[in-house]
Amino acid sequence: MDALPPVPAAPWAEDSPPVLGEGPLHAPLMLVGEQPGDEEDRLGRPFVGPAGRLLDRALASAGIDRRACYVTNAVKHFKFVPRGGRRLHQRPDAGDITLYRPFLMAELQRVIPRLVVALGATAAQSLLGRKVGVAKIRGQVIPGPGQRPTLVTVHPSYLLRLPDPAMREAEYARFVEDLGVALAWSRAEREG
Ligand code: URA
Repeated sequence: MDALPPVPAAPWAEDSPPVLGEGPLHAPLMLVGEQPGDEEDRLGRPFVGPAGRLLDRALASAGIDRRACYVTNAVKHFKFVPRGGRRLHQRPDAGDITLYRPFLMAELQRVIPRLVVALGATAAQSLLGRKVGVAKIRGQVIPGPGQRPTLVTVHPSYLLRLPDPAMREAEYARFVEDLGVALAWSRAEREG
């Protein structure tokens, strides 16, 4: 089994420990987010903050057991600016994505999931090696790195930011639908 390489660290990450992926080897589904947030950085686990709670709910609604998934991020450190005692999220740039990409590829080679789910634009860019419009390819299973089947959907934080409750509900339902496609596909592949 391939060992993982050392985790890269962007210059802005300073000495903070990386937040690594978690989940079983050979998980049928690998979920890739953007980067750890404030809570993830404090607790050292991916998707345990507000976005993670929404993701957990959506996974459960789609009939997916999170514990059976491998959950990770494109970037392994929390990029933020300090503001009034808070740490405000900063989106990773193309250089950050490129820096951490080999590590994500190594995780992929190690886990060998049946399907990878890119949660949002940063994960999609890292996995596909190019910038993509999430809305355009959302919910489709397309060839990803090394032809690995990949499904791109929105990031759960996008849903949290939607101000209109009706729209939030509709977008949440679409998100659950996308996850349902991922599950059905990974099962069909396993049985096939
Ligand atoms: N938490 C994570 O672990 N990843 C994200 O992309 C957002 C929140």
